[in-house]
Amino acid sequence: MQKKSLVIFIIMLLIMGNLSARVNETVQLPDPQRTGGMPLFEALDNRQSARSYSPQKLTMQQLSNLLWAAYGVNRDDGRRTAPSARNVQEFDIYLIMEDGWYVYDHTDHALIRLGDEDLREHAGSQEFVSTAPLNLIFVADYDRMAGYSPENSDFYSATDVGFISQNVYLFCASEGMATVVRGLVDRDLLRDVLNLRPSQHVILGQTVGFPGN
Ligand SMILES: Cc1cc2nc3c(=O)[nH]c(=O)nc-3n(C[C@H](O)[C@H](O)[C@H](O)COP(=O)(O)O)c2cc1C
Repeated sequence: MQKKSLVIFIIMLLIMGNLSARVNETVQLPDPQRTGGMPLFEALDNRQSARSYSPQKLTMQQLSNLLWAAYGVNRDDGRRTAPSARNVQEFDIYLIMEDGWYVYDHTDHALIRLGDEDLREHAGSQEFVSTAPLNLIFVADYDRMAGYSPENSDFYSATDVGFISQNVYLFCASEGMATVVRGLVDRDLLRDVLNLRPSQHVILGQTVGFPGN
C-alpha cells in the first residue's frame, strides 16, 4: 500500500512538473507576413464590429500577423505599428484562448504562456466572449509612464489603446476576420485572474475570430 502511494505521489509530481514547465514557456511565433493584404481603402470600407463568432481557431501564422499588425515592432529602433505618446509603449497585450493565457513579447515576437486555464468566461460579460477563439486584453503599465500625473496616465493610455485596437480592426477587415473592441470588461476581475501588478491597468478588451452565423 505504501509503495502504491509512493508511485501515485511520484506520478503526481511528474504531472505537476510537466504542467508548470509549460507555464512561462516561450512560444515562438512564425515571422509575420509584413506585405500584402487588402488595399487600405478596401479594409477601411470593410471595418466593422462583429458580435457573432464561429469556433474556428486562428492558426499560428494568423496570430503572428495579427499581433504584429496590432503592436509589433516595425522599425530597427524598436518603434511599433501603433504610436504612443512620447513613445512610452505602455501596453502589453494579454491573450485569452481556450488552451490557456499568454502575453505578447514584442521584442522576440513570441508568446509567453502564463497559464493553462481557459479564462474566456472572465474576458467579458457579453455572450460571444466565452466562445470566441481569442480575446485580447489591452493592459497599460503606468510604471512606464514616468512623470505623468495619474490623470495623464489615464488620458494617454485611453488614447494610445485606440491605435492598437484600430490596427486589429483593419487587420481583421483585411483578412475577412471578425472583431469587436470592448469596454464592457470587469477590470477588477481581470486584474485578479491575470495576476497583474498594481501598476498594470486593464483598459479594453477586443474579441477576435471568424464570422459566425
Ligand atoms: C471604446 C469603445 C468601447 C466599446 N465597447 C464595446 C463593448 O463593450 N461591447 C460591444 O459590443 N461593442 C463595443 N464597442 C463597439 C461599438 O459599439 C461600435 O464600434 C459602434 O457601435 C460602431 O459600430 P462599428 O464598429 O461596426 O462601426 C466599443 C467601441 C469603442 C470605441
